[in-house]
Amino acid sequence: MADLQAALAEQVSAALAAEFGAEYAGADPVIRPSSFADFQANVALALARRIGAPPRDVAQRLAVRLAESAICERVEVSGPGFINLTLRDSWLAASATGQLADQWLGVTMAQQAQRIVVDYSGPNVAKELHAGHLRATVVGDAVVRVLEHLGHTVIRAAHLGDWGTQFGMLIEHAIDVGDQATSEQLATGEFTVFYQAARVKFDADASFADRSRQRVVQLQAGDEQALRLWRMLVADSMAYLRRVYDRLDITLTDADMDPESFYNPMLASVCAELEASGIAVISDGALCAFPPGFTGRGGKPVPVMLRKSDGGYGYASTDVAAIRYRLLDLGATRLIYVVGSEQHQHLEMAFAVARQAGWLTSAASAEHAVIGLMTGPGGQRLQTRSGEQVKLVDLIDEAVQRAEEVIKDRYDDPEQRGQIAEAVGIGALKYGDLSVARSSSYALDFDRLLGLTGNTGPYLQYATARIRSLFQRAGLTPDEATGPIVLTAAAERALALRLLSFGAAVADTALTAEPHKLAAFLFETASDFTTFYEQCPVLKAQSQHIRDSRLALSALTLRVLLTGLDLLGIPVPDRM
Ligand code: ARG
Repeated sequence: MADLQAALAEQVSAALAAEFGAEYAGADPVIRPSSFADFQANVALALARRIGAPPRDVAQRLAVRLAESAICERVEVSGPGFINLTLRDSWLAASATGQLADQWLGVTMAQQAQRIVVDYSGPNVAKELHAGHLRATVVGDAVVRVLEHLGHTVIRAAHLGDWGTQFGMLIEHAIDVGDQATSEQLATGEFTVFYQAARVKFDADASFADRSRQRVVQLQAGDEQALRLWRMLVADSMAYLRRVYDRLDITLTDADMDPESFYNPMLASVCAELEASGIAVISDGALCAFPPGFTGRGGKPVPVMLRKSDGGYGYASTDVAAIRYRLLDLGATRLIYVVGSEQHQHLEMAFAVARQAGWLTSAASAEHAVIGLMTGPGGQRLQTRSGEQVKLVDLIDEAVQRAEEVIKDRYDDPEQRGQIAEAVGIGALKYGDLSVARSSSYALDFDRLLGLTGNTGPYLQYATARIRSLFQRAGLTPDEATGPIVLTAAAERALALRLLSFGAAVADTALTAEPHKLAAFLFETASDFTTFYEQCPVLKAQSQHIRDSRLALSALTLRVLLTGLDLLGIPVPDRM
C-alpha cells in the first residue's frame, strides 16, 4: 500500500482493536503530520472518555503495540496523549518503490463511487466572462478532475444564465440592428459592446424599454421571432465560451451547460409541490418559501422568491428546481456549488428549501464551495482604467504576454517560444488561483504569479522540466528508472515521505473541494526535490545502486508532479 496515511491508520486501528476491543477498530485514528516525528496519532485524546481511562494511559498502551509493528521505528507519547510516530526507513523505501510501480501512485479509489454534480463557472449568455469568473471556473474544474480521478461519476454543470428580463432588451436591440449586423457583432465574442448599446437605449428611450418588456413576455410565451433571436444569442455565446474554455483547458463541454431555461418546464410543478406541502405560501401576491433560520433586518424572515406576483419566475425559482432535478432525477448524492461568496445566502436558502421539501436528505449533501474575490493589486476592486470589469480574455492575454517577457531570452524559435509562453502564462494564472484557499480574497499580482521561485505555476513547471533534463543527461526515460529506492540521506527520506502523502493530499482535496491543498502538496514536493537535488548527487552518485535509487526517486517525483498538475488543470511544457 502506497498511501502512507492509510497504511498508518490501519496499524493504529489494529492496535486499538487488539488493546481495547473490536468495537474500536472503526474509530478515526486521527493521523496528522507532525513536526516532532513523521506523524502524530491523536486517537487517545479522542477516545479516552469512551474507553474510560486517562488519555496518556490509552496512548501508552497503544504505543507499546505500535512499537512492535513493522512500520514504526520509534513511538513516543508526548503531552496529554499524542502518539508520535517515526517510520522505519526500510519500510518507507519499500513503500516508495511500490508507489513507483503503482499506476495510481498511491491514490486510493473512493470506496463508494458517488454521483456528484459540480456547478461551476457560472457563465451568462450575451455577457463576456470577466476576471471574477476565473476562480469559479478554474477551481471548479480542478475539483471535477480530482473527483473523477478517484472514480466518482461527475456531472459538470455550468448553469448557463440564458433566461431573464434582460433578454427582452437584447432581442429588441437585435431587431433594431438587424440580423446581419447582429450576427457579425456577436461572432467576435464582443458581447459587452452589444449589451451596453442595448442598455443605453433601454435607459434613455422609454418606448424601447416598453417594447423590451413586452418582448420578454413574448419570449416566455414561446413567440417564434423572439425565440429565434434568443437562440442566436445563446449559440454565439456558447461558441465564445467554447473558445475561452478550450484555451484555458477547462473540461466543460456544450453538453455540460444545462442552461437556466432547461428548468423552465419544471418550474410550475415545483411551485405546486412546495405550495401543496405548505413550504411555500403566497405573500404579497408572490409565492415564497421562508426557510427557518434566515432573517433579515429586524428579525424579519427572508423569502425565497419562487414565483413573482406577475407570475414570472426568477433566479431562485430556477435554482430550487435545479436542486430537485439534480437530486431526484439525476440521482446525485453530492452537490457542489463553486460560486462566489456573494451568493452564499441565496444558495444556503435554496438548500434549506430542498431539505424542507424532503429532496435533500441525510443520504445526500449540498455544499457551497465559496469563492472569494480576486482584487486589484492594492486590494481594491479589479477594474480597467475606465472603471469597467476586466475581461477574462484580456487577463489571459496579459498573463501570456508577460510570460513571454520572462522567458524570451531562452528560446530563439518564435513558435516554440509562443507555445511555452502560452503554457507558462496560463499555468501561472490558473495556479495562482488554485494555490490560495478558495474562499479567501487575493490581489492579482502578475510578478508574483510568474515568479520562478515560490509557490507558483512556473516553479512547478520548471521542476518537471529539470527532472526531464536530468533523464536526458542520463540517457534514460523516466519509465526505465524502477529502483529499488533506498534511503541513505535525510533529503532522500524527506522526499520519499512527502511523495507517499500524495494519496492523502488528493483524498483531502476531494473531501473538502479545496484544490489549494493539492497545490500546497505539489509545491512542498517540488521544494523537497530541490533540496534533494542540491544535496544528493544523482548521476554522480557514489555507487550504482544509489544512482538507480535516486533516479527512481526523481522519476517518482516527476510522475507525482505531472499527475498532480494535471489534476489541477495546469499545462506543463516539455521543456522550459
Ligand atoms: N450565472 C450566475 C451569475 O452570474 C452564476 C450561476 C451559479 N450557479 C447557480 N446554480 N446559481 O451570477
